[in-house]
Order: sequence, then C-alpha cells, then structure tokens
Amino acid sequence: MSLEWKDSYEVGHHEIDAQHQVLYELANKFLNASDKISSANSGMSLYKYTRGHFKYEENLMKKLGYPEMEMHIAQHTDLISLLNEVAENVADESLSMQDLEAFLSAWLIDHISSSDTKLAFYVQLQHQGSAHDHTGEAGRFADFE
Ligand SMILES: [Fe+2]
Repeated sequence: MSLEWKDSYEVGHHEIDAQHQVLYELANKFLNASDKISSANSGMSLYKYTRGHFKYEENLMKKLGYPEMEMHIAQHTDLISLLNEVAENVADESLSMQDLEAFLSAWLIDHISSSDTKLAFYVQLQHQGSAHDHTGEAGRFADFE
C-alpha cells in the first residue's frame, strides 16, 4: 500500500515541492509500518515533519503578506488536528489501513492541488524578475521540535 508522488503534483516552488515529496515518503512509511512500534514512530515522524512544513509555508505567507494566509493557516490547523486524531486511532487499532490511506491521499492531494498551488503562484508573482534560489533546504524539519 503506498501513495504515489506524481510530477503533476508539483506546485512550482522548489522548496515546497521538495518538502511535499518528503511528506509522501513519510506518509508511505507510516502506511507500511509493520508493527505498533514502527507505526507509532513513523506516525510521529510524519506529524513532526508536517508541523515543520506548515511552519515553513506559514512563515513564507507572513513574509509576503499573502492575502489568503488566514484561510490557508486554518486549513493547516484542521489538518494537524485530524492527523493527530488519525494517529491515535491507528495506535489503538480503531482505524483500518484503507481508511488511513484514503485520508492521507485526500489530504495531501486536495491541499497541495488547491491551497499550496495558489500560494506558490503568488510567490512566483512576487519573485518575478528576481533570481531566488530555494534549493538545498529539504529535510531541514526532520528534527523539528
Ligand atoms: Fe499548505
């Protein structure tokens, strides 16, 4: 069982795209955890990385005075509490892996294809004409909090 990253999911912001791919890897580790301990560990890694990734996007939005910031942050807050709930349900085995896969896939695809794409587009507009290099920052949130 795994979620497949597709190039069409790219939003056009190098760092955000790199972080989304790490999210996919971590979500797949969580989905494929073979026992309770690795499930708890990989669930925690996914949760921590997600928080760091959201912080990255939120800092970017603040810096740019992004007009849809409030709505985007509210979505992050909802996703974090859902992820928390889901991780708890996985831990006490009240959630099937099929449900988990459906949740992760809907969550990642919906949020990335709508809100994150809009944000990246706004960043591109702001950066037009200037050469910004966003490379080399992926994975920075591995030890976040
Ligand atoms: Fe986002």
